Amino acid sequence: MQFPESGTYIPALMTAAKTGLSAPKVPAEIDFPHRHLLGIQDLSPDEITYLLDLSDSYAEHNRARGGKLDIMRDKTLINLFFEDSTRTRTSFELAGMRLGADVINIAVANSSIKKGETIIDTAMTLNAMHADALAVRHSNAGAVKLLSEKVNCAVINGGDGSHEHPTQALLDALAIRRRKGHLQGLLVALCGDIAHSRVARSNIYLLQTMGARVRVIAPPTLIPPAMERLGVEVFHDMRAGLEDCDIVMMLRLQRERMEGSFVPSVHEYFKFYGLDYDKLQHAKPDALIMHPGPMNRGVEIDSDVADDLDRSLIREQVEMGVAVRMACLDVLTRDRPDTTP
Ligand code: CP
Repeated sequence: MQFPESGTYIPALMTAAKTGLSAPKVPAEIDFPHRHLLGIQDLSPDEITYLLDLSDSYAEHNRARGGKLDIMRDKTLINLFFEDSTRTRTSFELAGMRLGADVINIAVANSSIKKGETIIDTAMTLNAMHADALAVRHSNAGAVKLLSEKVNCAVINGGDGSHEHPTQALLDALAIRRRKGHLQGLLVALCGDIAHSRVARSNIYLLQTMGARVRVIAPPTLIPPAMERLGVEVFHDMRAGLEDCDIVMMLRLQRERMEGSFVPSVHEYFKFYGLDYDKLQHAKPDALIMHPGPMNRGVEIDSDVADDLDRSLIREQVEMGVAVRMACLDVLTRDRPDTTP
């Protein structure tokens, strides 16, 4: 095994060398000054590129069945999800286990939160047990940041209200980059419930930071006010909006965040904004289809389009989720001074 030039510290390689485990080829480490991952807005292009490069190496390691690493040996990851999740929670769990961590999932429904304990007291309780990382999802925007200010371990935002879902944007970017080879210059359409979507917000920040152009396509009721200020083009007609697009990312109607009715009916919504082959032909012939999941088939996307193996990246998005969360856990749990509040 080749060690890097002196002065270049590559923890994954060095850890694997000590233990004899097979190691992913990791990029040269950069200065990553963040204690937590709360949003894409906090990250520079170099930091995003570094996380994507590291994720890519973990993706290859996972595909090659490279086995369990010990990068997080003797460290503990706690998943604290106040909102439902299949993909994010499970992939954090898998990511932690593949890095050798002890992983605990708090079942919020059976926890002392049900007895009235606050999110802050819950976080401080877990912190006192010397967790090394918390992956947290909450229905309120800003709740994960608030929690991060009360603990000394790394906190990763698994989605806070309609605000941000940073690991989702990273895994989307990784899936795109692996197929298209780059992000710079791509034209990406985000279609559907932009108003309530943390996935849309994190993707807008990431894609623009990395030099892609972003369009949002939705009925006026599902576009937040002053959307253009984020530098995106806004379309209300799906066929016009899809013209020349390289990537078509569909978003679910977030009914759990809606008060009142934002669309006349599901049938009408699918007719005007559901992705089918008829509308897709307005995008580039090699345009790729994405969806963060969970999908509502027949509402925002037609089943045949979603399952089109040549054009749909949806399964790859899920696969990349484990690799991206391994990279984020690796970077954020590297040795740091104890700053217990
Ligand atoms: N994409 C996503 O966040 O899915 P889950 O709600 O299943 O985690």
